[in-house]
Amino acid sequence: MSEQGKVAGKAPIMQNLEKGKTYAWCTCGMSANQPWYDGSHKGSSFAPSMLKPEENRKAAMCTCKQSRNAPFCDGSHKTL
Ligand code: FES
Repeated sequence: MSEQGKVAGKAPIMQNLEKGKTYAWCTCGMSANQPWYDGSHKGSSFAPSMLKPEENRKAAMCTCKQSRNAPFCDGSHKTL
């Protein structure tokens, strides 16, 4: 299992994802722009997780970084 990021939040953030756009989800939990990457992981072993939706959709993006279905919330934050 890979290293998990720090808990940035204990609830997902709803986002409108646009088809074909590239998103970078923060995996380390240090970004000040949750749920997205802002470069804060520099100096750590983390890297952002890239996401390119195939359709326009609304999604619950994980902020706790413990989801097993990252970058999407799977309810794991409820156990924190
Ligand atoms: S916010 Fe991470 S699993 Fe829900």
